[in-house]
Amino acid sequence: MNRHPLARFPALRLRRPRLAGWSRRLFAETRLSTHDLIWAIVLKDGEGVREPVASMPGVFRLSPDEAAKAAVEARDLGIPALALFPYTDASARTTDGVEALNPDNLMCRAARAIKAAAPGIGLMADVALDPYTDHGHDGLLKDGEIVNDDTVRILVQQSVIQANAGFDIIAPSDMMDGRVGAIRAGLDAAGHQNVQIMAYAAKYASAFYGPYREAIGSAGVLKGDKRTYQMDPANTDEAMREVALDLAEGADSVMVKPGMPYLDIVRRVKAEFGAPTFVFQVSGEYAMIKAASQNGWLDGEKAMIESLAAFKRAGADGIITYFALDAARILHA
Ligand code: PBG
Repeated sequence: MNRHPLARFPALRLRRPRLAGWSRRLFAETRLSTHDLIWAIVLKDGEGVREPVASMPGVFRLSPDEAAKAAVEARDLGIPALALFPYTDASARTTDGVEALNPDNLMCRAARAIKAAAPGIGLMADVALDPYTDHGHDGLLKDGEIVNDDTVRILVQQSVIQANAGFDIIAPSDMMDGRVGAIRAGLDAAGHQNVQIMAYAAKYASAFYGPYREAIGSAGVLKGDKRTYQMDPANTDEAMREVALDLAEGADSVMVKPGMPYLDIVRRVKAEFGAPTFVFQVSGEYAMIKAASQNGWLDGEKAMIESLAAFKRAGADGIITYFALDAARILHA
């Protein structure tokens, strides 16, 4: 590619194509579409529940019946898939997070309700123990350490249970070593060859998950931080190694998380591997845009669309976002 223009000003005027709306549309290099969006939704037990999440204005904890209604709305707007996350009350959490293995837990019941109401929509399940543990960690805590291999064994069972409930994409967000290969083998052994794995491959130990932890009820319970398993925000090469490993273990797609502060990682992953690359616009990114817009400090809709388009420009094939429904409404209009 020749980046150095042959013509020079005044023959060359880069403003010329920007002058009219039709021309700006025609010259656009990337395009955001509803087909790029995975809608992140938070679940809560009950019926008819739509409980606002204080730190995420516009996000509600939905009971399975409400989630099913939301799924129909999303499908009708052309959103291909939903990513589900369960709120668990502190009283229902245990040290071993065993509720993760209950085939009738909130995630599984919601999956069945959604599949009954909107069979054509893709369903992605978060795999990790943090919604179910009383210490808020993604794995088993033994003598102050998040133990890797014992955790992986449980995550495999959790994945199979979720696949049995109808989830199409298993998305391990725990960052244990070796979990993608183990989950792939476990799914295959259970007859789930067609269930996908989207690996949270480059997941950073980030402050931007704050509002999410409130949303799923982990905020008060999390002991310490997740730096012994999530990545150091300082690192780039390490993200490439994580992605390479997860692809080699059989991941169908990989994810970078968070999104906006890590666009360089998105770009590099897409360029180096050419694999299906997704990005998670996490709760803190959502909350920042919402809070500033509620204060009148920025135009919330424009900032939302611009932030989503930035992921496409960086090379992402798709975006997991709490904005999916709002964005789809605008993209459709
Ligand atoms: C945990 C998990 C997290 C998110 C998805 N799965 C947070 C964490 O690692 O503590 C973050 C989602 C968000 O912030 O929107 N397994």
